[in-house]
Amino acid sequence: MLSVDSLRFGYGDDSPVLTDVTFSAGAGEVMAIVGRNGAGKSTLLRLLNGLLQPASGRVIVNGNATARTPVHLLAREIGTVFQAPEQQIFAPKVAEEIAFGPRRLGLRGAALKARVADVLLRVGLADVADRHPLDLDAAALRFVALGSVLAMRPPIMLLDEPQRGLDAASLARLESIVAEEAAGGRALLIVCHDMEFVARRASRVLALAGGRVAADLPTQEFFTDPALMAAAGVEAPDPLVLAQLLGLAPQLTATALAQAWIAQRAEVAGA
Ligand SMILES: Nc1ncnc2c1ncn2[C@@H]1O[C@H](COP(=O)(O)OP(=O)(O)OP(=O)(O)O)[C@@H](O)[C@H]1O
Ligand SMILES: [Mg+2]
Repeated sequence: MLSVDSLRFGYGDDSPVLTDVTFSAGAGEVMAIVGRNGAGKSTLLRLLNGLLQPASGRVIVNGNATARTPVHLLAREIGTVFQAPEQQIFAPKVAEEIAFGPRRLGLRGAALKARVADVLLRVGLADVADRHPLDLDAAALRFVALGSVLAMRPPIMLLDEPQRGLDAASLARLESIVAEEAAGGRALLIVCHDMEFVARRASRVLALAGGRVAADLPTQEFFTDPALMAAAGVEAPDPLVLAQLLGLAPQLTATALAQAWIAQRAEVAGA
C-alpha cells in the first residue's frame, strides 16, 4: 500500500535529515515510527503525503508516485493528522471541518450528513458540532483533525503524536479508532513517543536514528532488543520490563502480563 525506496532528504545544504530510508506498509498494519526528538519522524510523514519531495529515492502511495501526483489527489489516498492540528483546521465549525474532505470527494446531501454524523460520534464531538474548532481544548482539536481525516476514508492514515496530552478516556477513544481502522484494512503510521501506546497498538516499529532506519521489526522483536531501543533513544514499556523481572516470556500489555503471571502461578500450584 505504501512503499518507500532509498529516500534521501535535507532541508538545506546541511547534512541530510534522512538517508537511505526504505520500508513498506500494508493493509491492516499499524506501524509506529519512533526515534529521538529531531530524528526526522515528522519530516518523513511530510515526504509520505507529498508535502515534501525527496532529494532522491521515491515514495509510492497506493500505486501513485508522490513525485508525479498533486498533493490534493494524494490526499484521497493518504490522510494526515499533523503534530500541531490547529495548523490544519480552517472551517468555522467542527461539523464543517469534518464535511470538507468528503464534500471534495463528491459526497452530497443525506450521504454527506450521515458520514459527518458518524464521524462526529466516533471522535466524541457530536455535542460540539456547531462550535468553532479553535474554541475547543487541545485534545478535542486533535479529534477534529482526526475526524476530518476519518471522514475521507483514505486507505492510509498518518498520525503525528496523536496520543500527546490526551486524558485516559480520550486515549481509550483514540486507541479504539486505531484498532477499528486497522481492522477495516487501513494502513496506519503513527509517530509516537509513548512506548506503552506503541506496545499496545502497533504491529510493527520503524525506528529512525541518525537519519537512517535503525529498526523495522514486529513490535515484540523491537522491544526485546536493548541495543535497538538504545539506538532509537526509547525505553522498554513497563509490561516488558516486568515480564523480564518475573522470568516470564515477553508481554506487550498489562493484560497479557497478568494472564501470563496467573498461568505461571497455576502451573507452580499444580506441579
Ligand atoms: N522546516 C524546517 N526547516 C529546516 N529544518 C527543519 C525543518 N523542520 C525540521 N527541521 C529539522 O529537521 C530535523 C528533523 O525534524 P523533525 O521535525 O522531522 O523531527 P521529529 O523526529 O519529528 O522530532 P520530534 O520528536 O521533536 O517531533 C531536525 O533537526 C529539525 O530541526
Ligand atoms: Mg515531530
